[in-house]
Amino acid sequence: MKNKFNFSARLENLNKKIVAENLDAVLISKIANLFYFSGFRGDSAVLLIGKNFRKLITDARYTEQATQQTEGFEIVQQSEGLYKKIEDEIKNLQIKNLGFEGKILTFAEYKYLQENLPGVELKSVVLDELRQIKDAAEISLISKACEIGDKAFAEILNFIKPGIAEFEVAAELEYFMRKFGAEKNSFDTIVASGVRGSLPHGTASDKKIFAGEFVTMDFGAIFGGYCSDMTRTIFDGKASENQQKLYNAVLDAQLLGLEVIKIGKGGKEIDSVVRMKLEQAGLGNYFTHSLGHSLGIEIHEEPRLSRLSTCESLQENMLVTDEPGIYIPKVGGIRIEDTVLVTVEGAVPLTHSPKNLIEL
Ligand code: GLY
Ligand code: MN
Repeated sequence: MKNKFNFSARLENLNKKIVAENLDAVLISKIANLFYFSGFRGDSAVLLIGKNFRKLITDARYTEQATQQTEGFEIVQQSEGLYKKIEDEIKNLQIKNLGFEGKILTFAEYKYLQENLPGVELKSVVLDELRQIKDAAEISLISKACEIGDKAFAEILNFIKPGIAEFEVAAELEYFMRKFGAEKNSFDTIVASGVRGSLPHGTASDKKIFAGEFVTMDFGAIFGGYCSDMTRTIFDGKASENQQKLYNAVLDAQLLGLEVIKIGKGGKEIDSVVRMKLEQAGLGNYFTHSLGHSLGIEIHEEPRLSRLSTCESLQENMLVTDEPGIYIPKVGGIRIEDTVLVTVEGAVPLTHSPKNLIEL
């Protein structure tokens, strides 16, 4: 089945990049970019794209799929090694300046190109930036992926009780996401309860959840090739006054994030405003990661909301997560995360699960 993405616009932007970088062609090997520029959802393939040609090189396992999923690409079947076929194609096309994805190619693959294409200038390029602004079809898929996450969260609230292991919670969340239409999880499901909550990326373990513990669940669905990401922290039992205070400090920071995520704001500035809020609450030292990241075909994409962000100015139809958290070693942790669309009206969360403290 073909996708409803605007491939001509994507390929036009790619072509501008090829021209700007003085290239004859680009070799695309990142799986996310194969999908973005061609619609192909398999792996073990590359795209070779120049002004007058578009080739998808793969093996017999994927040729039929490639024909079904792409349009306007010549499907080239290789049977003696992917890089041997790439070499032959580049020689036949007389490519002299070739862009390649330097962050993706292995050292061995790069060496192969260098040694077997001595007359070809190899230039590392980054194509991911072309995926930062999402189109309507992408936003619709991500919204649907977020809706699946929300529905799975509603179900899990009926399941968590003292004595249940984190693994079981993760399995149930994943089962419900699949049942509601997810292709798979967008990353390994995080379920971190009690003291394990101080691990920001505490993927589910055999630890049992007990009354009197926070439970942080960070999970996402892939729908139509696009990811969602959300985190909710609930409490098993009745939270003490201090536990409520900690929770509300994170919630206030997260809500502030939604206010400051705006067109024109930079990634560093947004991170720092939210960080300051947690600092004012005396919790700054416990907020040990960045505020957010973009997502799409990959779970972590540019732009970032962080101290190191290179994003000067958010633009309409970018997506970011807003996910402050606190992690207190040997005590526990709390994180609240929404996937958020940047619009002219401000930040619009695509995840809608309740954020008030849920006590089970
Ligand atoms: N929600 C997982 C992550 O952002 O790393
Ligand atoms: Mn995230």
